[in-house]
Amino acid sequence: MSVVVSATRVVDDSRLLDLLDAGERERAHRRSDPNPFVTAHALLRRLVAEQTGADPRALSFERRCATCGTHRHGKPHIVGMRDVFVSVSYGEHLAVAAVTRLGEVGVDVEDLESADFDGFGSVTLDDAETPWLEGLVGDDLLAARALVWARKEAVLKATGHGLVVDPSQVVVSPPDQMAALVEWKAAQHPPGPTQLADVDVGARDHRAAVAVLTSRPLSVRFQPG
Ligand SMILES: CC(C)(COP(=O)(O)OP(=O)(O)OC[C@H]1O[C@@H](n2cnc3c(N)ncnc32)[C@H](O)[C@@H]1OP(=O)(O)O)[C@@H](O)C(=O)NCCC(=O)NCCS
Repeated sequence: MSVVVSATRVVDDSRLLDLLDAGERERAHRRSDPNPFVTAHALLRRLVAEQTGADPRALSFERRCATCGTHRHGKPHIVGMRDVFVSVSYGEHLAVAAVTRLGEVGVDVEDLESADFDGFGSVTLDDAETPWLEGLVGDDLLAARALVWARKEAVLKATGHGLVVDPSQVVVSPPDQMAALVEWKAAQHPPGPTQLADVDVGARDHRAAVAVLTSRPLSVRFQPG
């Protein structure tokens, strides 16, 4: 198995709640719009179940924060399946999940609209990366920004740091080239061999990427949710 990535549009379907456990349902109901959370966690459970043969309702996830060690937030793992690695990402319209046995995984999906803000470069890019976006306008610019952002965040979700590490210190390849982690400039311990790939989630208004902490070549299998 390599890395399997699945994506689906966010739906309003109360039947999906049956797949979630009590903790997830409680977290969903704390949100003003529970649908992205519910869609994403149902997708993740279905994907893991399909890849492992487990009952999607019987899966138990725990989170652990790489920074403070709490289990109240942080990177998800499956209880009792130490060799299966997962990640999930969602926004208002789209949810994405990834599962692999190769190593720690991070998946990220970005809406083009979310990359539409002044100061994107100073928040996100290393000096070496800023020329890449010069000359791009409109949706081409937003798509390039969203892709670079998704690549960086996928790496930071695979390592478990999240945005505790400044994304400008995670240098990735230019958006018109094959995805790769080029340099880790952060003070935090570098992750070691990291494979990065873009994922075509079949949505013109989103860009996604997946990272796996492994030296083995990455093959990404996409399946619609
Ligand atoms: C990881 C992070 C970048 C994701 O943010 P986002 O773009 O808003 O959200 P996404 O939809 O892409 O991903 C959300 C999922 O990422 C996962 N996640 C959360 N923290 C994570 C981390 N540190 N590493 C990997 N995955 C993480 C969770 O599964 C989360 O879903 P859930 O909250 O529904 O369980 C952001 O939550 C973050 O930076 N977290 C770390 C913050 C932190 O550690 N602060 C220090 C606290 S002591």
